[in-house]
Amino acid sequence: MTRPGKTRPEAVRRPAGHAPAPRSAGVVQIEEPLREAVALAEPWNSPWDRPWPPQAAAAQLRTDVAASARVTSVVLGGKDHVGIDRDVAHRLLEADSDWAQTAESARWAVLGMAAAVASLGVGQFVDLGCGLATGAPGSALAPLHTAVLAARPDAHILYADQDPMVLAHARALLRVPAPASVGHLPVDLTDPAALLAALREETNLEWSTLVAAVLSDVLHELTDTQAHRLLATLHESLPPGSVLLLTHRAPGTGGSAVALADTHTEAALAWHPRNDEQVADLTSAWQPLPQVGPVRCAGFTTAVLTNRRPA
Ligand SMILES: C[S@@+](CC[C@H](N)C(=O)[O-])C[C@H]1O[C@@H](n2cnc3c(N)ncnc32)[C@H](O)[C@@H]1O
Repeated sequence: MTRPGKTRPEAVRRPAGHAPAPRSAGVVQIEEPLREAVALAEPWNSPWDRPWPPQAAAAQLRTDVAASARVTSVVLGGKDHVGIDRDVAHRLLEADSDWAQTAESARWAVLGMAAAVASLGVGQFVDLGCGLATGAPGSALAPLHTAVLAARPDAHILYADQDPMVLAHARALLRVPAPASVGHLPVDLTDPAALLAALREETNLEWSTLVAAVLSDVLHELTDTQAHRLLATLHESLPPGSVLLLTHRAPGTGGSAVALADTHTEAALAWHPRNDEQVADLTSAWQPLPQVGPVRCAGFTTAVLTNRRPA
């Protein structure tokens, strides 16, 4: 919603011929992000939540530096961003004229892969680095549960991120009707042991039942060492036969690769893009899930994998 007397965020220049993604519905305007998000938040009845005081979130909110979730919101036509995020998004779109289109395609890919995995019967999803996917169903910014519940109406979806604004928005806006449920968890993916402890002790995940771990446009923010440790922990710890859904940014080509790297460095945003072979190396312990193929998506590697032991 636009507050009286406030101007809407400036439009983002999009690549020629690429229609803007639908604006996310019901998402609060950034200038008052937490105040409004908190005002929207009613007492939460998810048994998966742990206390996440709005004051703590507000104290950690930085609007003087870009945040990757907010930059992605700009690129995908969302409303949850501040000026510095819009500046960075403009520079990314200049560096790579396909940046918005590939980001949108990757969102569609992960939503499609999640629906396919849910239709196989997997009923627990953990969206790691979920971002500000609080848009309308049917848009690229639609949250994961909109795709999952269409196939599995009783599924449980856990949204996890390190960004306090992401968590505040998720708590306020991401709700589902019973028998489905959603939860929200602050996590740091660079600390897999703490992540695992939080998943075990602070959520209602059932460890006797399959889990789908989703890493959508996230792993490029982790170094090789961090990504290897995270994937090894998930591989060892999730119930055997669990699933990994992955979309991973590729480095770009020629001049755009250099410009993208420079833009991320100048914005102090982590940037560890990987090509198909590097993603294959990261995920070498995982097996392809034969029933669900990865979705082809320019600018990204996508994968649907399982930690099932080879026969
Ligand atoms: C580029 S956004 C992608 C968001 C969303 N998954 C999507 O597909 O659009 C990356 C997200 O990963 C989160 N993230 C990055 N590093 C993280 C970390 N170490 N721990 C937890 N979340 C992290 C960011 O806060 C951000 O929300």
